[in-house]
Amino acid sequence: ALPRDLTGVRVVISAGGTREALDPVRYLGNRSSGKQGYAMARVAAQRGAEVTLVAAHTVALPQPAGVDVQHVSSASELSAAVHAAASAADVVVMAAAVADFRPARRADHKIKKSDDQPDPAVELVRNPDILAELVTARRDGQVIVGFAAETGDESGGVLEHARAKLKRKGCDLLVVNAVGEGRAFEVEDNAGWLLAAPERGGAERQIPLGSKSQLASAVWDAVTELIAP
Ligand code: C5P
Repeated sequence: ALPRDLTGVRVVISAGGTREALDPVRYLGNRSSGKQGYAMARVAAQRGAEVTLVAAHTVALPQPAGVDVQHVSSASELSAAVHAAASAADVVVMAAAVADFRPARRADHKIKKSDDQPDPAVELVRNPDILAELVTARRDGQVIVGFAAETGDESGGVLEHARAKLKRKGCDLLVVNAVGEGRAFEVEDNAGWLLAAPERGGAERQIPLGSKSQLASAVWDAVTELIAP
């Protein structure tokens, strides 16, 4: 049985991939399955936490037992739900794949092809970085966890990119997945690194290839060290 070491701890977790509408039937999306975020929620609830899961689009996944699931679609909906829940949370985990850009305009009607009109161009505008906003709005003692999918070889590029991202985002922990060549997205196993901010001890732990539940457990172990009195 799992330890009940998150009893009474209020956590907010985002999961899945956002969809940014182009018109009523089309969107820009990504390949996030939502499995890692759902595993984070399931394991937290099993360890006693009060869990709010803000779920964007995922493959079909079982509803995690004892978890309050709020379904959202776009980055701006996800942002509103996460910020609202984060104001009363001890831990916030951003496992969602949030679109960096959204179409500048959403057409009211389905965009039509036409032989006497030029083909349309899609103009994109930047979405706010929710993780960075959460860090700015952080409550006293709140632990904020980010995820990063990095490409590159295990020894070199991945860790260096991750250290820079941890610093840039200002979160307490950064979970780094090595992606590419069939890793991380749309697969059952995950491996990577768990980096703590220098103010949080600066540990750099390697997470061996294992299930997404095992990775979730390793992340919650690190979180409990930071919230322990
Ligand atoms: O910069 P990058 O997208 O790689 O950072 C990934 C982390 O930032 C994830 O935790 C993701 O949920 C979060 N993110 C965010 N808002 C965005 C883009 C990413 O919170 N607009």
